[in-house]
Amino acid sequence: MILRDMTEADLDAVLAIERAVHEHPWTPGNFSDALRSKYQCKVYESETQEVIGYAVMMLAVDEAELLDIAIASLQQRKGQGKRLLNEMLALARKKEMRRMVLEVRASNRSAIALYRSAGFSDIGLRRDYYQKNGGREDAILMGRGL
Ligand SMILES: CC(C)(COP(=O)(O)OP(=O)(O)OC[C@H]1O[C@@H](n2cnc3c(N)ncnc32)[C@H](O)[C@@H]1OP(=O)(O)O)[C@@H](O)C(=O)NCCC(=O)NCCS
Repeated sequence: MILRDMTEADLDAVLAIERAVHEHPWTPGNFSDALRSKYQCKVYESETQEVIGYAVMMLAVDEAELLDIAIASLQQRKGQGKRLLNEMLALARKKEMRRMVLEVRASNRSAIALYRSAGFSDIGLRRDYYQKNGGREDAILMGRGL
């Protein structure tokens, strides 16, 4: 697997994954804004140059915020999410960040399990933070030192 910078040319592949794995996916505009804002936008590519995942991270002073991370459905549960997350942690360290934080839907068990297994712990809760079909859903704030 290769981690490389995301470009506008990747957006079709990225959006196909995003729409398949998220109930409330980011829009093309969200990704374009992230690229324009110089966030750390990375794609995870197989040897055959297929995009199998991606991550978007914002750097602020000494804190990195992981805004999005996803692995294509058919590639899930093979350790790729953990590897991609580890790459983002290493990148944040290289950029001299001291902490990584993120927000995750309270119902997103696989992501919460991934983050816990990578050393994140709960640091807060935002009640009714996310839209959910037919209502609202809490966000769990998680973080870890780098
Ligand atoms: C969250 C996500 C990136 C995990 O990717 P993945 O490649 O399947 O994860 P891995 O195979 O590396 O799993 C790493 C660990 O996470 C946990 N985990 C991952 N998927 C899980 C699931 N469905 N149920 C329970 N635990 C799970 C496990 O602890 C796992 O370790 P194990 O396989 O040794 O038990 C992937 O499920 C995904 O893309 N989900 C949709 C997008 C999303 O919700 N992103 C997070 C937004 S905050």
